[in-house]
Amino acid sequence: MRHFDYNAGEMFAEEVPLAQIAAEVGTPVYVYSTATFTRHYRVFADSFADTKALIAYSVKANSNIAVLATLAAQGAGADVVSGGELKRALAAGIPAEKIVFSGVGKTRREMHQALTADIHVFNVESLAELRVLNEVALALGKMAPIAFRVNPDVTAGGHAKISTGKKENKFGIAWSQAEDAYAEAARLPGIRIVGVDVHIGSQISDLAPFEKAILKVSGLIKRLRAAGHTITSFDIGGGLGIPYGNNAAVPPPPSEYAALVKRLTRDLDVEMIFEPGRMIAGNSGVLLSEVLYVKRGEDRDFLIIDAAMNDLLRPALYDAYHDIEPVRQGDLDQMETYDVVGPICESGDTFTKGREMPKLESGDLVVLHSAGAYGAAQASQYNTRPLVPEVLVNGAEYAVIRSRPTVEDILKTESFPDWLTKHENVTDI
Ligand code: LLP
Repeated sequence: MRHFDYNAGEMFAEEVPLAQIAAEVGTPVYVYSTATFTRHYRVFADSFADTKALIAYSVKANSNIAVLATLAAQGAGADVVSGGELKRALAAGIPAEKIVFSGVGKTRREMHQALTADIHVFNVESLAELRVLNEVALALGKMAPIAFRVNPDVTAGGHAKISTGKKENKFGIAWSQAEDAYAEAARLPGIRIVGVDVHIGSQISDLAPFEKAILKVSGLIKRLRAAGHTITSFDIGGGLGIPYGNNAAVPPPPSEYAALVKRLTRDLDVEMIFEPGRMIAGNSGVLLSEVLYVKRGEDRDFLIIDAAMNDLLRPALYDAYHDIEPVRQGDLDQMETYDVVGPICESGDTFTKGREMPKLESGDLVVLHSAGAYGAAQASQYNTRPLVPEVLVNGAEYAVIRSRPTVEDILKTESFPDWLTKHENVTDI
């Protein structure tokens, strides 16, 4: 069941008309559906109900604390990549023992923060990082639980910028160095080896790369155990893709992914850790925007909307496809072809080119679908456009879960250095 759908010609988020949110909160605005977050989490979790599994939602996909609290209520853990995300996860009520800390560049301060919180595991990405973690742990009188993120040299991922499991990528310990890395870790007094971690990419649309990576890592786990290491967890990262509504390959449903994982790991006797992000959040949100102008060009028509690349960067950065629909269901007999663009002064601020959709006019509302993951989380204030707000719908009610800052709020974080304030032409804000 879709939770962003038409009812009597008007698009709703669950039971709330999107036009009402636009009128009351303003546009552009992200709108999320609690029911969809919950359903996606449940579909994933239920398909591993018979497995020892930790589902560590990848906070980077959508890190709003209300979203995290929604998932925490379902039992989710968290995959975090910064001290900031760790703080969010804890603030949202995700227990530290369900938190894994990933990322190639953890700072000493972040390690200290995570050790003090007693998180589940650090996914370590280099020997240099391991040695620093050992020092920070010893200074705290603790042992840091670690898994090495290994790089299995497997091709996967929907776009070069989101493929991570190839040896030319910056991620993980090189496959040929993995066993030596574990040997060194075993010698460090502040480190406790608990598992192996891998993450091969994002928006993966078939199971073959997962199968390859799991088989490789299973072999590694056996070799590590033979060498005397205790391996109790196997983190296979995130990466399962979602349908975006275009003609690209439709990813397999979580049930098929789960069947594969279970078949390949049954005999390993490990806790499985998953880090799904997009699969949970992607189709749980839309970006709601108003048409500012229809500009009739020489050879094309531009639909200029009030959302821009600073609000949703994916099309500009990854040539990503997002379905775009009018909020007031259009007349299918009156189709037009538009380049849908934002107001930012860059040609890259284009959401799509040559898209056929019902005729739209200035003042009409549109939604960009599948924007719940890597949408608001990647938004910026470029062009001094205040950070896009977020709304969470739950049945017939909704709440603003991130408010739109004012331009004054933005200017307050900036200041004139002494030598400029002395200048008579510069006034205080
Ligand atoms: N675990 C690790 C270590 C990751 O780096 C990522 C995503 C995930 C889990 C979650 O992957 P997912 O299940 O969401 O595919 N901004 C890009 C996607 C970047 C993905 C980065 N890492 C986009 O908008 O497509």
